Amino acid sequence: MNIIQCSQALLAKDLTGKTILITGGYAGIGFAAAKQLASQGAHLILAGRSRMKGASMANEIGARFMELDLLDSDSINQFSKAFLSEYSALDVLICNAGISAPGAPDTNSASRRSKEGWEAQMAINHLGHARLIQLLKPILQSTVNSRVVIVSSCAADSMPYAGQPNQADVDLTDPHWKRRAYNDMDAYGQSKLAQLLYAFELAEQWKEEGVRVVAPHPGWGDSELFRSAPEGAIDRDAWRQLGMLSLEDAAQVHLHCALSEEIENGKFYSQIGVYGNPSMQGGGLPMEFVSPNFTSEKQKAVWAWTQSEIE
Ligand SMILES: NC(=O)c1ccc[n+]([C@@H]2O[C@H](COP(=O)([O-])OP(=O)(O)OC[C@H]3O[C@@H](n4cnc5c(N)ncnc54)[C@H](OP(=O)(O)O)[C@@H]3O)[C@@H](O)[C@H]2O)c1
Repeated sequence: MNIIQCSQALLAKDLTGKTILITGGYAGIGFAAAKQLASQGAHLILAGRSRMKGASMANEIGARFMELDLLDSDSINQFSKAFLSEYSALDVLICNAGISAPGAPDTNSASRRSKEGWEAQMAINHLGHARLIQLLKPILQSTVNSRVVIVSSCAADSMPYAGQPNQADVDLTDPHWKRRAYNDMDAYGQSKLAQLLYAFELAEQWKEEGVRVVAPHPGWGDSELFRSAPEGAIDRDAWRQLGMLSLEDAAQVHLHCALSEEIENGKFYSQIGVYGNPSMQGGGLPMEFVSPNFTSEKQKAVWAWTQSEIE
């Protein structure tokens, strides 16, 4: 497998004086990226919902932990207020936290709806991050050459090898699965496509403000992303046969997006991935994201819907 790697020059860059905030940075791919960035001298803030786990992992790499639960709008508001009062610059915001396939809404603690009634994957992966980005807008726009990295997935296209041939779409008539029969992976794909469409529109909206916005797919990383999936919902053996990347390899696209001066505003950056379209499977830094539901009309509609949900 030809895994895409971040360049050695970028991994040796001195990041002293840079402030980087990563959501979900104390586990999985996020932690692998955070560890590397902290080793290069950046001031790293790992934001997540478990104080005990977060403080211990932050301590391990010389980072700082701050509490943030992306399912809870009050927590996002409190986090942002505290962050803005303590920091005067934010060079990189990496929206990395996420959940996948937690089960039908309200069947267990991982699948519980937000207090607004939002489906958990849409709430945590997309809407929580969108609220965070908008609340951090002043500091992102006042920091010279800042960037927002919104971690999406090849699932924003489709899940062709997971027994789920369905094309991802954002159904704005029932985004929170209140009337449709629930499907875990369709809901995951919907949240990841919503993130991607939002990222592209954010790039457009903020392009005059000097903030660049990019969206990566990290590849199949050997993380605990499916830890709350109900037994039988995910065919883990079939997924393993596709080849899983180490967390360090899966962090390479995150790192490129966080570090490269060459990144292009409003572009998709991808590790090799299981896209429906074979020409996309080799990934690229950046690569064109081609998918039937990735349209400019959908982009505008998802942006407008998102802003109305989080306002
Ligand atoms: N692994 C893959 O193959 C793959 C492929 C494509 C895209 N991605 C994306 O990559 C990102 C990282 O995933 P991963 O594979 O590294 O998964 P992971 O190991 O499960 O890490 C996810 C992180 O998100 C945090 N998180 C979950 N719910 C949260 C909430 N309500 N508030 C704040 N933080 C929360 C988790 O914290 P807790 O430990 O407290 O739950 C954890 O730190 C995700 O956006 C995922 O969708 C992953």
